[in-house]
Amino acid sequence: MPDAQEDGYRFRLRLSERGEVVGVGDGIAWVRGLPTARIDELVRFEDGSTGLVFQLGADLLGAILLAQTQHLTAGMSVQHVGRRLDIGVGDALLGRVIDPLGNPLDGLAPIEAREFRPLESAAPTILERDFVRTPLYTGNKIVDALIPIGRGQRQLIIGDDGVGKSALALDAVVNQRGRGVLCVLVLIGQSRTAVAAALDVLRGARTLDNTVLVVAEANALPGFRYLAPFAGCAVAEHWMRAGRDTLVVYDDLTRHAQAYRELSLLLQRPPGREAFPGDIFYLHSRLLERSTVLGASHGGGSMTVLPIIETRQGEISAYIPTNLISITDGQIYFDAKLYAAGMLPAIDIGRSVSRIGGKAQHPAIKAAAARIRLDYLQFLELELFARFGTRLEAGIEAQLRRGRLLREILKQDRLAPLSEQAHLAWLLAYGEGLLDAAAEPLAATLAGLFAGVAAAGLRLEDPKEQWLALLRDLLERPA
Ligand SMILES: Nc1ncnc2c1ncn2[C@@H]1O[C@H](COP(=O)(O)OP(=O)(O)OP(=O)(O)O)[C@@H](O)[C@H]1O
Ligand SMILES: [Mg+2]
Repeated sequence: MPDAQEDGYRFRLRLSERGEVVGVGDGIAWVRGLPTARIDELVRFEDGSTGLVFQLGADLLGAILLAQTQHLTAGMSVQHVGRRLDIGVGDALLGRVIDPLGNPLDGLAPIEAREFRPLESAAPTILERDFVRTPLYTGNKIVDALIPIGRGQRQLIIGDDGVGKSALALDAVVNQRGRGVLCVLVLIGQSRTAVAAALDVLRGARTLDNTVLVVAEANALPGFRYLAPFAGCAVAEHWMRAGRDTLVVYDDLTRHAQAYRELSLLLQRPPGREAFPGDIFYLHSRLLERSTVLGASHGGGSMTVLPIIETRQGEISAYIPTNLISITDGQIYFDAKLYAAGMLPAIDIGRSVSRIGGKAQHPAIKAAAARIRLDYLQFLELELFARFGTRLEAGIEAQLRRGRLLREILKQDRLAPLSEQAHLAWLLAYGEGLLDAAAEPLAATLAGLFAGVAAAGLRLEDPKEQWLALLRDLLERPA
């Protein structure tokens, strides 16, 4: 029926914008003539490259490149893709290694996600949030007893390079196996060997099934390094919204800040302190505000975050560290001197805090750990004083001996997470002096103790007398 078709035909003006590349830099492109472009919108270049609108000027817009062919040059045309950047989310991602756009990096089949989430989305409102009240166990003695973390908390891991920051975060991920917490490990700007090592650890500990790795390697486009934490956050957010518990590690946000600075300088934004753009604080608070614990009427899911920050020579008052300290709910501070002295994990207990985790700590562990932090800090001061060679009273001598014992107890190997029961066991045993005359070597005594506790099957709720009776029995039993 050609007539009907002709009748239905209307002349109309269809606007199709076409921009033009005026310049290409390291991972960015300048474009003229896309007047309706919006921030965070995707654009496609004539050669097949894609970009993300990052900056709008009066005349030019700046895009960060997400895919770049070798042919991209000035003069090429640019068009809207017509959508914002999103990522496939859901359980299909578990056990996979992806880039910030959701493409697999593990050489396995493409991921068939049924749902998508934008990389940028608004943080939960105050009314949607609940208080942190459930502990998130890392399996680490110092953290779980003295600097406890609750589900939904944002706890910064900070310290110089090579002092064990990533190791602690990875241990925390490994410890979530069988606890119903889904993990997202975001690796930003790391070498391929470091990524492979992390993957090996997760595989070896059989934790990969409940973990996703979002990776933007050191040699990835700066746009990838900038987007990686937002991609990881979106993946976890989907689960949190579905009522599940999640743990996200950003390793590390120093490199993320550097990628953002790189992009901003290339796009000629005015540099501020340490040459970072002025909105770097907003960038990180926008990211970290998206993690929380939701109220029961919103599904009760949670997103706990461990952002990592690297310092130079212990300087925590540099720009990015101070920003993150003020955004997060506490910090675990790693000290290079402790590391050098063989105190592993090299956590400086005096400089570490958890502002909200104590409220989520189990009452039995909390009671048993109550004095330990203070005792330890007092011991460190005493020890410093005792170095002057003064003659010491007998009481002080005993205090020093107990402090040294505590320091030995707090040492912990990688990938040797402790159960909550084991935490309570060492705390009570030390607190009651049951370890003062422990058989050497201490590590073996403790291992025996933990094995005995696991076999006995006591619960944290059981009365303290019952626990003490068990501990006495275990520690006094001849080996
Ligand atoms: N508790 C521990 N026991 C034994 N070795 C440890 C422990 N914690 C960390 N290490 C070792 O210390 C080294 C540095 O650890 P890691 O890579 O986690 O440090 P980092 O602070 O993340 O370093 P970078 O700044 O390079 O990322 C590693 O070889 C790791 O195996
Ligand atoms: Mg590291």
